[in-house]
Amino acid sequence: MLAYVYKDHGVFELTQKPKPKLLDPKDAIVKITMNSICTSDLHIKHGSVSKAVKGITLGHEMVGIVEEIGDEVKNVKCNDRVTVNVETFCGKCFFCKNGFVNNCTDKNGGWALGCRIDGGQAEYVRVPYADFGLNKIPNSITDEQALFVGDILSTGYWAAKISEIKKTDTVLIIGAGPTGICTLLCAKLKNPKKIIVCEKDETRRNFVKKLYPDIIVVEPENCIDTVNKESENGGADVVIEVAGNEDSFKLSWQSARANAIVTIVALYDKPMVLPLPDMYGKNLTFKTGGVDGCDCKEILSLIERGKIDTTPLITHKFPLKDIEKAYEIFENRLDNVMKVAVVN
Ligand SMILES: NC(=O)c1ccc[n+]([C@@H]2O[C@H](COP(=O)([O-])OP(=O)(O)OC[C@H]3O[C@@H](n4cnc5c(N)ncnc54)[C@H](O)[C@@H]3O)[C@@H](O)[C@H]2O)c1
Ligand SMILES: [Zn+2]
Ligand SMILES: [Zn+2]
Repeated sequence: MLAYVYKDHGVFELTQKPKPKLLDPKDAIVKITMNSICTSDLHIKHGSVSKAVKGITLGHEMVGIVEEIGDEVKNVKCNDRVTVNVETFCGKCFFCKNGFVNNCTDKNGGWALGCRIDGGQAEYVRVPYADFGLNKIPNSITDEQALFVGDILSTGYWAAKISEIKKTDTVLIIGAGPTGICTLLCAKLKNPKKIIVCEKDETRRNFVKKLYPDIIVVEPENCIDTVNKESENGGADVVIEVAGNEDSFKLSWQSARANAIVTIVALYDKPMVLPLPDMYGKNLTFKTGGVDGCDCKEILSLIERGKIDTTPLITHKFPLKDIEKAYEIFENRLDNVMKVAVVN
């Protein structure tokens, strides 16, 4: 089968690999119908994901059809259309039982697909712990609607959840890339008083303005002034940082009011400095980390009920054989790309 592989630092290659086989009774083999490229794939390419294993097939955002299941798989059956979760988790360890599936202690626990084991930028993928890693897609939902459920939409859902958003809050989201927009969609579900989106890129600012006219959109230079004007207590009640550089990190705590929650979703390519003396007395609560992606069923239900629609994020489509072109466009943000769907 065709597979897009992490060859070496900076080198990805479309190549042929054998079709995966079941290795464990809890595994399933999924025939991929659609996958996508994520900023984290670029982090692998640029060497900032130390756990990534050379030779693995990339891809951790995908939907497909169950082709084969192991004897112990109960929640899905052959021919089910499914979302695949970015994270692998056993469901049994301390962290899984508490919903912290990103830290599952299994050897494949956490982000393994397309990083430590073969992923979904291919024709088929083997999914360990398929009862937890797969969710059946309701018939009324298309592949396009479900494509981001297992990764960036799970991230947005998790970020909105841990940020403890209240109806009286002014929420600031920094970064309107695909993950920032998924975060926005999930924050909207909490019905806060106001949401402000701060984004550097004019095209992306316009994307948000056009699709979500009720959102206040601002450039980084005017962010603090706007937040102060739009909030009641000298800053945002909740800040969610989804941009990922020194400037956006600094803005995240500067634009927060005292006692605010600051949630760091972004992944940085170097350590960030938390200048505690400068924020002394602000009494901020920081929340950070990798998504605990275990709410896919609830997210699918929200899509089914028309509460979340991420299809406008799919700005480009390519067949798997042209995935190199898809990467070129996504990596260099050509042609106003937001997300690419790679179709089998
Ligand atoms: N925690 C997790 O589990 C998790 C999951 C998915 C993605 N991520 C991370 O989330 C981040 C965003 O992902 P993405 O796919 O949307 O990436 P992206 O690069 O497409 O989006 C980032 C956006 O931030 C904007 N930006 C940059 N500097 C800014 C600034 N100073 N002020 C305002 N906006 C600024 C960029 O123009 C861009 O639109 C990445 O760091 C990614 O690795 C984390
Ligand atoms: Zn991802
Ligand atoms: Zn576990």
